[in-house]
Amino acid sequence: MEKYVINGGKISGSVKIESAKNALLPMISASVLTDEEVVIKSCPKLLDVLGMLKILNKLGVKTQFDGNDLIINSKELTSCHLDDNLTRGLRTSVLMLGALMGRCKTAKLNYPGGCEIGKRPIDIHLDSLKELGVSVCDDGKEIFCYADRLIGKEISLSFPSVGATENLILASVKAEGITKIHNYAKEPEILDLIKMLNSMGARIACSNLCVTIEGVKELHGTKYLPLSDRIEAGTFLLAGALTGGEIELINAKPQNILPLIGKFCESTCKIILKNDIIYLKFIRGLKAFDVTTGPYPLFPTDLQAPISVLASVSKGKSTICERIFENRFGHIEELNKMGAKIRVDGDTATIIGVSRLHGERVIAKDLRGGAALVLAGLNAEGQTEVVDVKHVERGYYNFDKKLSMLGIDIVKVKEL
Ligand code: UD1
Repeated sequence: MEKYVINGGKISGSVKIESAKNALLPMISASVLTDEEVVIKSCPKLLDVLGMLKILNKLGVKTQFDGNDLIINSKELTSCHLDDNLTRGLRTSVLMLGALMGRCKTAKLNYPGGCEIGKRPIDIHLDSLKELGVSVCDDGKEIFCYADRLIGKEISLSFPSVGATENLILASVKAEGITKIHNYAKEPEILDLIKMLNSMGARIACSNLCVTIEGVKELHGTKYLPLSDRIEAGTFLLAGALTGGEIELINAKPQNILPLIGKFCESTCKIILKNDIIYLKFIRGLKAFDVTTGPYPLFPTDLQAPISVLASVSKGKSTICERIFENRFGHIEELNKMGAKIRVDGDTATIIGVSRLHGERVIAKDLRGGAALVLAGLNAEGQTEVVDVKHVERGYYNFDKKLSMLGIDIVKVKEL
């Protein structure tokens, strides 16, 4: 097990934001829809990315990195059955379902199950695939899907699930006729997946009301540069504010994290937005604020844990309401060990700001909760140990190195 040992510091400097994890993972799935080469440019070697590649390799797909570019060739796809050992613990493997249905009209995988942040059922994924003509055998452990033909249809999702929207798009892109998806998730990463699929020859159009997919017979290869990671960008902005520092994000898309930028304006930080650059400078004392998470364009649930650290040291009473996942306050117990004053009641955390946190040994239990504990360590007086950082490195590339370059005293060490 590895841990970060953090002794504070003040953020100062520029950092380049990586391609978005939540766009890369469905794009890697999408690559099996063609037997031509797909190049995903500027792809960070995140643990989740490497996990998806292992799954693809087991299916006979060839993958390699050429510098930072990921090259995927699915010409010799030999199986549509995902390896149980590889998919266990990697929830995004469920996105292979739609892509394999699109390519082979059959797919088998083990049930992804719940995780630290909630039960995370996949009923919306399966129900919408059934609408396209997919037969689903599901014994609660294993899911086997097959179809003679995939036939486009008008489908309305009961909730704008990100994963279900992506699976349905991946399955319908080569279906017969037209599929329309109403109440779809409008996260920027989905719009980027659509752009990538269109660059492969798909015919997908989006309006505010629905996604319209006109099925095509074949897709071809592409070279695609994914959009930048709004959650990584938000995390670094929070790091700047929490250390009383200043930071410039390069390759960031301000328009994709406006709800967070609004909170900084409330919190008396100076923010300058210029094309793909975001600049933040801490001015004076942070003020309490309220946050409610929701589907895009509302405040992203993935920044809920990180912003709870800002609320912990902001003067006054803040409230954070989590409306997407039922169990996403796992980091709060650890934050309270560091001196935060947070009470959780159902889906709402009430936070009384303290002047500063103190160093402690805390455990990362999930990706964003773990990142929040690292942020807390930047603000804390004394030494913080964040243990089990594999969770954090699922979604943040070179997190410790980037923070170190920005002026933070942080090292990664093995714990025996
Ligand atoms: C994706 C993101 C994740 C983000 C989340 C919400 C990726 C790889 N992951 O996860 O970082 O936090 O969107 O923005 O892109 N639900 C059901 N039934 C379903 C599907 C979802 O009840 O069939 C529920 C979930 O349990 C959850 C909510 O809907 O409570 C949102 O889930 P969803 O939008 O599907 O998130 P993911 O795609 O899993």
